[in-house]
Amino acid sequence: MARNKIALIGAGQIGGTLAHLAGLKELGDIILFDIVEGTPQGKALDIAESSPVDGFDAKLSGVNSYAGIEGADVVIVTAGVPRKPGMSRDDLLGTNLKVMEQVGAGIAKYAPNAFVICITNPLDAMVWALQKTSGLPANKVVGMAGVLDSSRFSHFLAEEFNVSIKDVSTFVLGGHGDTMVPLVRYSTVAGIPLPDLVKMGWTTKDRLDQIVQRTRDGGAEIVGLLKTGSAFYAPAASAIQMAEAYLKDQKRVLPCAAQLNGEYSVDNLYVGVPVVIGANGVERIVEIELDSGEQAMLDKSIESVRGLVEACQKLAPNLG
Ligand code: APR
Repeated sequence: MARNKIALIGAGQIGGTLAHLAGLKELGDIILFDIVEGTPQGKALDIAESSPVDGFDAKLSGVNSYAGIEGADVVIVTAGVPRKPGMSRDDLLGTNLKVMEQVGAGIAKYAPNAFVICITNPLDAMVWALQKTSGLPANKVVGMAGVLDSSRFSHFLAEEFNVSIKDVSTFVLGGHGDTMVPLVRYSTVAGIPLPDLVKMGWTTKDRLDQIVQRTRDGGAEIVGLLKTGSAFYAPAASAIQMAEAYLKDQKRVLPCAAQLNGEYSVDNLYVGVPVVIGANGVERIVEIELDSGEQAMLDKSIESVRGLVEACQKLAPNLG
């Protein structure tokens, strides 16, 4: 059987890390695409030159033309500009919307059967735009946010409790922004929900609230430290987990930005919810029960996503 083909649109910080991880995991052959000449070619060659050391078989190449992504099984999109200190994800909207128009057209022409994972921010609006501009079915276009936000939440909790990250399982719903909803009630250590751990004296409600806030601000914390760009290792690892779930038909249950058509009483909007990812892309959207407080937080998050999408529609009325 021929190897899978993984196309990475954008060969910047996240794109390069994606290529390296996809190689190390032998997910398939890798094409890096960028508008800057030399960058995708240079990163592809550098990573290919590491393959004998790490012993992985993958062909890597860099291209500046969309024809190079022809027939890709998975396309991961990071093209666009990242945040600088003082910028919110939403400040990127106008610039990155234009990029999504180009990327969507390239995917529609050369990789219409791919499973497409969008990482470009502001995520919930950009993945919405990418689905419209590419015209691919909604089950084949998803946004990476919840896996990253949950991973940050899990990391902070594992540190707080001094336990293995392997035993922490967390859940973040909603948009990828300040209004995201880390779901304390559905997050556990070895199956024990966080509210029970508070009762057991492992932490306090106040500490937990601080960790929830740190999760919401997780991206900004990294931007503040790096100063010249935004996070890339954890975002890349998160998207690779989603790509692997698709390529290996794993049926993983992962929080992703998926198009809602009636679920959670939302229509034609991408919002972070738990989904099953397998060979058919998003195979199921999982609707969990929320209490009134959780529902109110989710509603607020949905409203902020809706605001971003309306801003996109004003800039590009053809996107419907
Ligand atoms: N088509 C293709 N690539 C483009 C385009 C375009 N129209 N415009 C810019 N790019 C490329 C840039 O040349 C650059 O190599 O996208 C790449 C982006 O890489 P970085 O600037 O290093 O940004 P990165 O940290 O990888 O983040 C990319 O993901 O998390 C989000 O907020 C982040 O939107 C940002 C995106």
